[in-house]
Amino acid sequence: MNRQISGLTALLFVNCIDPGLLPNDSDQEAFPGGAEESGFEAADKADSALHPLERRLRNEQQLIDESISILTANMRRLHGGRGVMRHGLHAKSHGCIKGTLTVNPGRPARARHGLFANEGTYNVWTRFSSAQPKVIADAAPDARGLAIKVTGVSGRRLLNDGATTQDFILFTHPVGLGVDMRAIPDVLKTLANPAHAAILVLKHPEVVANTAVAFAAGALVANPLETRYWSAAPYKLGATAVKYFAKPCDWTVDGPVWPLSINIPNILAADYLRDAIREKLQGPGACFDFMVQFYANQRLTPIENHLKNWTTSVAPFHKVATINFPPQDFEKPAQQTFCENLSFNPWRGVEDHQPLGNLNRARKKVYEAVSDLRRTTNRAPKTEPNGHETF
Ligand code: HEM
Repeated sequence: MNRQISGLTALLFVNCIDPGLLPNDSDQEAFPGGAEESGFEAADKADSALHPLERRLRNEQQLIDESISILTANMRRLHGGRGVMRHGLHAKSHGCIKGTLTVNPGRPARARHGLFANEGTYNVWTRFSSAQPKVIADAAPDARGLAIKVTGVSGRRLLNDGATTQDFILFTHPVGLGVDMRAIPDVLKTLANPAHAAILVLKHPEVVANTAVAFAAGALVANPLETRYWSAAPYKLGATAVKYFAKPCDWTVDGPVWPLSINIPNILAADYLRDAIREKLQGPGACFDFMVQFYANQRLTPIENHLKNWTTSVAPFHKVATINFPPQDFEKPAQQTFCENLSFNPWRGVEDHQPLGNLNRARKKVYEAVSDLRRTTNRAPKTEPNGHETF
Protein backbone atom coordinates (compact mmCIF):
# COMPACT_ATOMS: atom_id res chain seq x y z
CA MET A 1 0.00 0.00 0.00
CA ASN A 2 1.44 3.30 -1.04
CA ARG A 3 0.42 6.83 -0.45
CA GLN A 4 0.53 8.99 -3.56
CA ILE A 5 0.88 12.69 -2.87
CA SER A 6 -2.27 14.42 -4.11
CA GLY A 7 -1.96 16.54 -7.27
CA LEU A 8 -2.29 20.12 -6.00
CA THR A 9 -0.43 19.52 -2.76
CA ALA A 10 2.33 17.82 -4.65
CA LEU A 11 2.58 20.61 -7.20
CA LEU A 12 2.77 23.27 -4.50
CA PHE A 13 5.22 21.22 -2.54
CA VAL A 14 7.53 20.46 -5.40
CA ASN A 15 7.45 24.07 -6.50
CA CYS A 16 8.36 25.04 -2.96
CA ILE A 17 11.29 22.73 -2.81
CA ASP A 18 12.71 23.00 -6.29
CA PRO A 19 16.24 24.24 -5.57
CA GLY A 20 15.81 26.81 -8.32
CA LEU A 21 13.25 28.49 -6.09
CA LEU A 22 15.06 28.26 -2.80
CA PRO A 23 15.31 31.40 -0.67
CA ASN A 24 18.12 33.79 -1.53
CA ASP A 25 18.39 32.44 -5.02
CA SER A 26 18.29 35.74 -6.88
CA ASP A 27 21.20 36.79 -9.03
CA GLN A 28 22.32 39.38 -6.52
CA GLU A 29 26.00 40.05 -6.09
CA ALA A 30 27.07 37.50 -3.54
CA PHE A 31 30.73 38.10 -2.84
CA PRO A 32 32.85 40.10 -3.08
CA GLY A 33 31.22 43.51 -3.20
CA GLY A 34 27.71 42.37 -2.22
CA ALA A 35 25.66 42.80 0.90
CA GLU A 36 27.07 39.61 2.40
CA GLU A 37 30.53 41.07 2.39
CA SER A 38 29.86 43.05 5.56
CA GLY A 39 31.04 40.97 8.47
CA PHE A 40 33.95 39.49 6.49
CA GLU A 41 37.59 40.46 6.85
CA ALA A 42 38.76 42.88 4.17
CA ALA A 43 40.50 41.19 1.24
CA ASP A 44 43.90 42.58 2.25
CA LYS A 45 43.51 40.91 5.67
CA ALA A 46 42.91 37.47 4.18
CA ASP A 47 45.27 34.98 5.85
CA SER A 48 47.43 32.43 4.17
CA ALA A 49 45.43 29.51 5.63
CA LEU A 50 42.59 30.49 3.31
CA HIS A 51 42.06 29.31 -0.25
CA PRO A 52 42.08 32.26 -2.73
CA LEU A 53 38.30 31.90 -3.15
CA GLU A 54 37.67 32.24 0.60
CA ARG A 55 37.25 35.16 2.99
CA ARG A 56 37.05 34.89 6.78
CA LEU A 57 34.21 36.20 8.94
CA ARG A 58 35.45 38.75 11.46
CA ASN A 59 34.07 36.84 14.46
CA GLU A 60 34.45 33.35 13.00
CA GLN A 61 36.38 31.78 15.90
CA GLN A 62 33.84 33.06 18.42
CA LEU A 63 30.98 31.55 16.39
CA ILE A 64 32.81 28.21 16.21
CA ASP A 65 33.45 28.18 19.98
CA GLU A 66 29.82 29.07 20.66
CA SER A 67 28.60 26.30 18.34
CA ILE A 68 30.79 23.72 20.08
CA SER A 69 29.55 24.69 23.50
CA ILE A 70 25.85 24.55 22.43
CA LEU A 71 26.33 21.12 20.85
CA THR A 72 28.36 19.53 23.64
CA ALA A 73 26.03 20.89 26.34
CA ASN A 74 23.08 19.36 24.49
CA MET A 75 24.87 16.03 24.06
CA ARG A 76 25.60 15.90 27.80
CA ARG A 77 21.98 16.84 28.58
CA LEU A 78 20.53 14.15 26.26
CA HIS A 79 22.99 11.53 27.48
CA GLY A 80 22.18 12.25 31.12
CA GLY A 81 25.20 10.29 32.35
CA ARG A 82 23.88 6.92 31.16
CA GLY A 83 23.80 4.64 28.14
CA VAL A 84 25.45 5.38 24.82
CA MET A 85 26.16 8.99 23.89
CA ARG A 86 24.80 9.70 20.40
CA HIS A 87 26.19 11.85 17.59
CA GLY A 88 25.89 15.62 18.24
CA LEU A 89 23.55 15.93 15.24
CA HIS A 90 22.31 13.16 12.95
CA ALA A 91 21.85 11.00 16.04
CA LYS A 92 19.69 8.37 14.38
CA SER A 93 21.37 5.92 12.03
CA HIS A 94 19.17 4.12 9.52
CA GLY A 95 21.98 1.81 8.59
CA CYS A 96 25.69 1.49 8.08
CA ILE A 97 26.36 -0.13 4.74
CA LYS A 98 29.41 -1.46 3.01
CA GLY A 99 29.94 -0.73 -0.67
CA THR A 100 32.42 0.26 -3.34
CA LEU A 101 33.24 3.53 -5.10
CA THR A 102 34.51 3.21 -8.67
CA VAL A 103 36.02 6.26 -10.37
CA ASN A 104 34.19 7.01 -13.63
CA PRO A 105 36.45 6.52 -16.67
CA GLY A 106 34.52 9.30 -18.46
CA ARG A 107 34.95 12.01 -15.78
CA PRO A 108 35.92 15.45 -17.12
CA ALA A 109 39.63 16.33 -17.25
CA ARG A 110 39.24 19.16 -14.73
CA ALA A 111 37.84 16.68 -12.17
CA ARG A 112 40.95 14.44 -12.33
CA HIS A 113 42.41 15.36 -8.96
CA GLY A 114 42.65 13.68 -5.58
CA LEU A 115 40.52 10.56 -5.41
CA PHE A 116 39.35 11.18 -8.98
CA ALA A 117 42.87 11.52 -10.48
CA ASN A 118 43.10 7.87 -11.49
CA GLU A 119 40.65 5.09 -12.22
CA GLY A 120 40.18 2.62 -9.40
CA THR A 121 37.72 0.98 -7.02
CA TYR A 122 37.69 1.61 -3.27
CA ASN A 123 35.78 0.04 -0.39
CA VAL A 124 33.44 2.48 1.37
CA TRP A 125 31.49 2.57 4.61
CA THR A 126 28.37 4.73 4.53
CA ARG A 127 26.11 5.89 7.34
CA PHE A 128 22.54 6.93 6.53
CA SER A 129 21.00 9.20 9.18
CA SER A 130 18.36 11.75 10.19
CA ALA A 131 19.54 15.19 11.26
CA GLN A 132 17.92 15.72 14.68
CA PRO A 133 20.17 15.54 17.76
CA LYS A 134 18.01 12.81 19.27
CA VAL A 135 16.54 9.57 18.01
CA ILE A 136 12.94 10.09 16.95
CA ALA A 137 10.39 8.32 14.74
CA ASP A 138 11.12 8.54 11.01
CA ALA A 139 7.70 10.07 10.27
CA ALA A 140 8.90 13.37 11.80
CA PRO A 141 10.04 15.87 9.17
CA ASP A 142 13.82 15.96 9.09
CA ALA A 143 16.76 16.31 6.73
CA ARG A 144 18.38 12.94 5.96
CA GLY A 145 22.13 12.42 5.79
CA LEU A 146 24.56 10.38 3.74
CA ALA A 147 28.10 10.12 5.13
CA ILE A 148 30.58 8.24 2.94
CA LYS A 149 33.97 7.05 4.12
CA VAL A 150 36.19 5.96 1.24
CA THR A 151 39.07 3.75 2.39
CA GLY A 152 42.59 3.24 1.05
CA VAL A 153 43.00 6.75 -0.39
CA SER A 154 46.55 8.07 -0.73
CA GLY A 155 47.64 11.70 -0.86
CA ARG A 156 48.76 14.60 1.35
CA ARG A 157 46.42 14.80 4.33
CA LEU A 158 44.43 17.82 5.53
CA LEU A 159 44.62 16.66 9.15
CA ASN A 160 47.65 15.19 10.82
CA ASP A 161 45.72 11.94 11.25
CA GLY A 162 47.89 9.37 9.49
CA ALA A 163 44.68 7.97 7.98
CA THR A 164 43.90 6.83 4.45
CA THR A 165 40.20 7.64 4.45
CA GLN A 166 38.34 10.31 2.50
CA ASP A 167 34.99 11.45 3.92
CA PHE A 168 32.17 12.95 1.84
CA ILE A 169 29.19 14.29 3.82
CA LEU A 170 25.91 15.11 2.10
CA PHE A 171 22.26 15.60 3.02
CA THR A 172 18.88 15.80 1.28
CA HIS A 173 19.00 19.53 0.65
CA PRO A 174 20.95 21.59 -1.91
CA VAL A 175 21.98 24.45 0.43
CA GLY A 176 23.38 24.84 3.94
CA LEU A 177 21.81 25.64 7.29
CA GLY A 178 22.34 29.39 7.06
CA VAL A 179 23.82 32.09 4.83
CA ASP A 180 26.94 31.79 6.95
CA MET A 181 28.15 30.91 10.45
CA ARG A 182 26.47 34.00 11.96
CA ALA A 183 23.15 32.09 11.85
CA ILE A 184 24.46 28.73 13.07
CA PRO A 185 24.46 29.19 16.87
CA ASP A 186 20.74 30.09 16.71
CA VAL A 187 20.05 27.11 14.40
CA LEU A 188 21.83 24.78 16.84
CA LYS A 189 19.97 26.27 19.81
CA THR A 190 16.67 25.67 17.98
CA LEU A 191 17.59 22.06 17.21
CA ALA A 192 18.40 21.57 20.91
CA ASN A 193 15.30 23.41 22.09
CA PRO A 194 12.47 24.15 19.60
CA ALA A 195 11.31 27.07 21.81
CA HIS A 196 14.33 28.99 20.51
CA ALA A 197 12.67 29.06 17.06
CA ALA A 198 10.98 32.36 18.00
CA ILE A 199 14.40 34.01 18.26
CA LEU A 200 15.62 32.32 15.09
CA VAL A 201 12.61 33.71 13.20
CA LEU A 202 13.35 37.23 14.39
CA LYS A 203 17.08 37.15 13.78
CA HIS A 204 17.37 34.93 10.68
CA PRO A 205 14.00 34.68 8.87
CA GLU A 206 15.72 33.42 5.69
CA VAL A 207 17.08 30.43 7.64
CA VAL A 208 13.67 29.48 8.97
CA ALA A 209 12.18 29.31 5.48
CA ASN A 210 15.12 27.26 4.25
CA THR A 211 15.12 24.88 7.21
CA ALA A 212 11.39 24.29 6.93
CA VAL A 213 11.86 23.35 3.27
CA ALA A 214 14.84 21.11 4.08
CA PHE A 215 12.97 19.25 6.80
CA ALA A 216 9.79 18.90 4.76
CA ALA A 217 11.76 17.60 1.79
CA GLY A 218 13.54 15.02 3.93
CA ALA A 219 10.16 13.87 5.20
CA LEU A 220 9.26 12.80 1.68
CA VAL A 221 12.00 10.21 1.53
CA ALA A 222 10.62 6.70 1.00
CA ASN A 223 13.98 4.98 1.14
CA PRO A 224 17.42 6.48 1.94
CA LEU A 225 18.74 4.38 -0.96
CA GLU A 226 16.27 6.06 -3.32
CA THR A 227 16.74 9.77 -2.89
CA ARG A 228 19.23 12.53 -3.73
CA TYR A 229 21.87 14.12 -1.57
CA TRP A 230 23.89 17.36 -1.87
CA SER A 231 27.09 18.45 -0.09
CA ALA A 232 25.56 21.95 0.09
CA ALA A 233 29.01 23.29 1.01
CA PRO A 234 31.87 23.68 -1.53
CA TYR A 235 35.21 21.87 -1.78
CA LYS A 236 38.47 22.50 -3.62
CA LEU A 237 39.11 20.25 -6.62
CA GLY A 238 42.34 20.94 -8.48
CA ALA A 239 42.40 24.54 -9.68
CA THR A 240 38.72 25.08 -8.99
CA ALA A 241 35.94 24.33 -6.49
CA VAL A 242 33.01 21.92 -6.64
CA LYS A 243 29.92 20.86 -4.77
CA TYR A 244 29.08 17.15 -4.57
CA PHE A 245 25.79 15.46 -5.45
CA ALA A 246 24.69 11.83 -5.23
CA LYS A 247 21.62 10.36 -6.94
CA PRO A 248 20.30 6.86 -7.53
CA CYS A 249 21.83 5.54 -10.78
CA ASP A 250 18.43 5.10 -12.42
CA TRP A 251 17.19 8.64 -11.63
CA THR A 252 17.63 11.61 -13.94
CA VAL A 253 19.42 14.69 -12.64
CA ASP A 254 16.85 17.21 -13.85
CA GLY A 255 13.19 17.73 -13.17
CA PRO A 256 11.62 18.24 -9.79
CA VAL A 257 13.91 17.36 -6.94
CA TRP A 258 11.35 15.11 -5.34
CA PRO A 259 9.12 13.24 -7.83
CA LEU A 260 5.37 13.51 -7.47
CA SER A 261 4.73 9.85 -6.95
CA ILE A 262 7.28 8.64 -4.49
CA ASN A 263 6.18 5.45 -2.84
CA ILE A 264 5.84 6.58 0.74
CA PRO A 265 4.24 3.85 2.88
CA ASN A 266 0.74 4.67 4.15
CA ILE A 267 1.63 3.78 7.69
CA LEU A 268 5.01 5.10 8.68
CA ALA A 269 6.61 2.74 11.20
CA ALA A 270 9.01 4.38 13.64
CA ASP A 271 11.97 2.92 11.73
CA TYR A 272 10.49 2.71 8.24
CA LEU A 273 13.66 4.10 6.65
CA ARG A 274 15.73 1.22 8.05
CA ASP A 275 13.01 -1.22 6.93
CA ALA A 276 13.23 0.25 3.41
CA ILE A 277 17.02 -0.12 3.31
CA ARG A 278 16.72 -3.75 4.47
CA GLU A 279 14.18 -4.50 1.75
CA LYS A 280 16.43 -3.04 -0.94
CA LEU A 281 19.54 -4.83 0.30
CA GLN A 282 17.75 -8.16 0.58
CA GLY A 283 16.83 -7.61 -3.07
CA PRO A 284 18.94 -6.15 -5.86
CA GLY A 285 21.16 -3.80 -3.84
CA ALA A 286 21.56 -0.13 -4.73
CA CYS A 287 23.66 2.18 -6.85
CA PHE A 288 24.42 5.94 -6.76
CA ASP A 289 26.01 8.26 -9.31
CA PHE A 290 28.47 10.52 -7.48
CA MET A 291 28.69 13.86 -9.28
CA VAL A 292 30.25 17.33 -9.06
CA GLN A 293 29.15 20.83 -10.00
CA PHE A 294 31.99 23.18 -10.92
CA TYR A 295 32.40 26.67 -9.46
CA ALA A 296 31.62 29.42 -11.99
CA ASN A 297 32.02 32.76 -10.20
CA GLN A 298 31.41 34.40 -6.80
CA ARG A 299 28.08 35.83 -7.92
CA LEU A 300 26.35 32.67 -9.16
CA THR A 301 28.28 29.98 -7.26
CA PRO A 302 29.51 31.77 -4.13
CA ILE A 303 31.87 30.12 -1.68
CA GLU A 304 30.97 31.97 1.52
CA ASN A 305 27.17 32.28 1.07
CA HIS A 306 25.77 28.84 1.89
CA LEU A 307 22.11 29.59 1.16
CA LYS A 308 22.80 30.41 -2.46
CA ASN A 309 21.97 27.37 -4.56
CA TRP A 310 24.37 26.53 -7.39
CA THR A 311 21.74 26.05 -10.09
CA THR A 312 22.30 23.36 -12.70
CA SER A 313 21.89 25.90 -15.51
CA VAL A 314 25.06 27.60 -14.25
CA ALA A 315 26.79 24.54 -12.82
CA PRO A 316 25.59 21.28 -14.43
CA PHE A 317 26.33 17.91 -12.83
CA HIS A 318 29.25 15.76 -14.03
CA LYS A 319 29.59 12.15 -12.95
CA VAL A 320 32.91 11.33 -11.28
CA ALA A 321 32.19 7.95 -9.66
CA THR A 322 29.68 5.15 -9.10
CA ILE A 323 28.87 3.90 -5.62
CA ASN A 324 27.52 0.35 -5.45
CA PHE A 325 25.86 -1.32 -2.47
CA PRO A 326 25.59 -5.08 -3.12
CA PRO A 327 22.90 -7.14 -1.36
CA GLN A 328 23.96 -7.61 2.27
CA ASP A 329 22.91 -8.02 5.88
CA PHE A 330 23.90 -4.72 7.48
CA GLU A 331 22.21 -5.21 10.85
CA LYS A 332 24.59 -7.31 12.90
CA PRO A 333 24.94 -5.55 16.27
CA ALA A 334 28.76 -5.54 16.02
CA GLN A 335 28.58 -3.75 12.66
CA GLN A 336 26.16 -1.15 14.00
CA THR A 337 28.37 -0.47 17.01
CA PHE A 338 31.44 -0.21 14.76
CA CYS A 339 29.64 2.29 12.58
CA GLU A 340 28.24 4.40 15.41
CA ASN A 341 31.80 4.74 16.71
CA LEU A 342 33.06 6.14 13.41
CA SER A 343 33.66 9.84 13.07
CA PHE A 344 32.93 11.61 9.80
CA ASN A 345 34.50 15.03 9.19
CA PRO A 346 34.68 16.98 5.92
CA TRP A 347 38.35 17.62 6.77
CA ARG A 348 39.22 13.93 7.04
CA GLY A 349 40.76 13.47 3.64
CA VAL A 350 43.40 14.67 1.20
CA GLU A 351 44.41 18.24 0.37
CA ASP A 352 42.97 18.02 -3.14
CA HIS A 353 39.50 17.90 -1.54
CA GLN A 354 39.97 20.73 0.99
CA PRO A 355 36.61 21.93 2.34
CA LEU A 356 35.86 25.58 1.51
CA GLY A 357 33.68 28.33 2.98
CA ASN A 358 32.94 29.42 6.52
CA LEU A 359 30.52 26.57 7.39
CA ASN A 360 33.14 24.05 6.34
CA ARG A 361 35.93 25.86 8.19
CA ALA A 362 33.80 25.67 11.33
CA ARG A 363 32.96 22.01 10.83
CA LYS A 364 36.63 21.04 11.22
CA LYS A 365 36.75 21.88 14.95
CA VAL A 366 33.03 21.29 15.59
CA TYR A 367 33.03 17.69 14.31
CA GLU A 368 36.37 17.00 16.03
CA ALA A 369 35.05 18.26 19.38
CA VAL A 370 31.71 16.43 19.31
CA SER A 371 33.08 13.11 18.06
CA ASP A 372 35.86 13.31 20.63
CA LEU A 373 33.33 13.84 23.43
CA ARG A 374 31.15 11.00 22.14
CA ARG A 375 33.96 8.50 21.73
CA THR A 376 35.62 9.39 25.03
CA THR A 377 32.30 9.06 26.89
CA ASN A 378 31.52 5.74 25.17
CA ARG A 379 35.10 4.49 25.64
CA ALA A 380 35.09 3.81 21.91
CA PRO A 381 38.17 3.41 19.70
CA LYS A 382 39.21 6.52 17.75
CA THR A 383 40.47 4.63 14.72
CA GLU A 384 39.70 4.79 11.02
CA PRO A 385 38.54 1.70 9.10
CA ASN A 386 40.57 0.06 6.33
CA GLY A 387 37.53 -1.12 4.36
CA HIS A 388 38.20 -4.83 4.95
CA GLU A 389 36.24 -5.14 8.22
CA THR A 390 33.83 -8.06 8.41
CA PHE A 391 31.15 -8.80 11.03
C1 HEM B 1 26.57 22.67 5.17
C2 HEM B 1 26.42 21.45 4.99
C3 HEM B 1 26.28 20.33 5.99
C4 HEM B 1 25.97 19.06 5.67
C5 HEM B 1 25.69 18.53 4.26
C6 HEM B 1 25.96 18.29 6.89
C7 HEM B 1 25.65 16.95 6.96
C8 HEM B 1 25.89 16.15 8.05
C9 HEM B 1 25.75 14.71 8.08
C10 HEM B 1 25.27 13.84 6.92
C11 HEM B 1 26.10 14.29 9.30
C12 HEM B 1 26.12 12.85 9.82
C13 HEM B 1 27.52 12.30 9.82
C14 HEM B 1 27.55 10.90 10.39
O1 HEM B 1 26.82 10.05 9.88
O2 HEM B 1 28.31 10.68 11.35
C15 HEM B 1 26.46 15.45 10.08
C16 HEM B 1 26.86 15.41 11.39
C17 HEM B 1 27.06 16.54 12.15
N1 HEM B 1 26.99 17.84 11.72
FE1 HEM B 1 26.70 18.46 9.83
N2 HEM B 1 26.27 19.11 7.94
C18 HEM B 1 26.47 20.37 7.45
C19 HEM B 1 26.79 21.49 8.19
C20 HEM B 1 27.00 21.50 9.53
C21 HEM B 1 27.30 22.67 10.32
C22 HEM B 1 27.44 24.09 9.76
C23 HEM B 1 27.43 22.26 11.61
C24 HEM B 1 27.76 23.08 12.83
C25 HEM B 1 28.63 24.07 12.82
C26 HEM B 1 27.23 20.83 11.64
C27 HEM B 1 27.31 20.03 12.77
C28 HEM B 1 27.26 18.66 12.77
C29 HEM B 1 27.52 17.84 13.94
C30 HEM B 1 27.84 18.34 15.33
C31 HEM B 1 27.40 16.50 13.55
C32 HEM B 1 27.61 15.25 14.39
C33 HEM B 1 29.05 14.76 14.25
C34 HEM B 1 29.36 13.63 15.21
O3 HEM B 1 28.72 13.51 16.25
O4 HEM B 1 30.30 12.85 14.91
N3 HEM B 1 26.98 20.41 10.37
N4 HEM B 1 26.32 16.57 9.29
